[in-house]
Amino acid sequence: EKEGYTHFMMKEINEQPKGVHDTLHRRLDKEGNIVLDGIKITKEDLEKINKIYIVACGTAYHAGLVGKYAIEKFAKIPVEIDIASEFRYRDPFIDENTLFIAVSQSGETLDTLAALREAKRKGARILSIVNVVGSSVSRESDDVFYTWAGPEIAVASTKAYTTQLVSMYLVALHMAVTKGMLTDVQYKTYMEELKAIPEKIKKILGNTEKIQQLADAQFNNENVFYIGRGVDVAVAYEGSLKLKEISYIHSEAIAAGELKHGTIALVEQDRLIVALATQDKLYDKMLSNIQEVRARGAYVIAVAKEGNKEIEKVADKVIYIPDTLDELTPILSVIPLQIFSYYIAVARGCDVDKPKNLAKSVTVE
Ligand code: F6R
Repeated sequence: EKEGYTHFMMKEINEQPKGVHDTLHRRLDKEGNIVLDGIKITKEDLEKINKIYIVACGTAYHAGLVGKYAIEKFAKIPVEIDIASEFRYRDPFIDENTLFIAVSQSGETLDTLAALREAKRKGARILSIVNVVGSSVSRESDDVFYTWAGPEIAVASTKAYTTQLVSMYLVALHMAVTKGMLTDVQYKTYMEELKAIPEKIKKILGNTEKIQQLADAQFNNENVFYIGRGVDVAVAYEGSLKLKEISYIHSEAIAAGELKHGTIALVEQDRLIVALATQDKLYDKMLSNIQEVRARGAYVIAVAKEGNKEIEKVADKVIYIPDTLDELTPILSVIPLQIFSYYIAVARGCDVDKPKNLAKSVTVE
């Protein structure tokens, strides 16, 4: 049931504070320690693991990109990430010291399942981050982490993605703690910030008029670029996919530093560019990139952390997200992008919940 919302997508966007809260709190004991009952990886197991592959499709793959940042940063294990339909047809180097992480909302995506089976055949241990309980991916895994997002009906994934992100952070932090890579203070800081995320999402959701106005002003654009650096690149990919799948606008995401290696040739008068600039150490670099595209006439909507005011001088419009640790910004910065895509699709009269040519669960090759 849509419970008063016009579309399931908007209902599910609004369920994200609860989804993120549930995914997190079901994993914490009274002392605030992470308890992952579906994951049996011990300290000894972790010491053996010298490489991790994260494999998924679509939005789940974008969550995996953030997972790579988190695991490498917190747990210091090298992570490769791949698209399931690519992974399964090449000959990736895998052995019993490899941990394979599948990410899937439905747990039934055929390519993801086939990639998992291939990794298993080669001896990898299989951990999955899945939403649908009892799905094929979960049944065929050694360790399972459920994202407690609840059923997702809209074809465009929203709450499954943000709960996948929290799951990734928890898995990464759990590995880091198990390996003894984090001090108590560091661990507490990350956990406190994670616990504050649902309220911060609520804050964004309580103030969407500006995003709707921007969407209403831009819905006629036929080409959009999403740019960012660091973990913002992952969010750029997700924002771009959200827009194209429900509004049928051509959009592309690109690492901002790559612009000058080709794509900037397409930047012209009134080209819409959505620029993510949430990372402190990359903030100045992003300001320069925004200036470069503005100099060619682009119209720039930036997403930045509250308090970063200088960006107002270089971007046309700025959407602020509440402050948090740089590592965790994707769970917040994706929210305005989901809302932006939603209102653009609505303004274009698109069937938001059931975009043409798309299925919720891709069980064919
Ligand atoms: C995008 C979307 C798809 C899915 C992809 C993987 O909004 O929903 O890109 O993310 O088909 O599906 P799951 O997660 O079920 O494996």
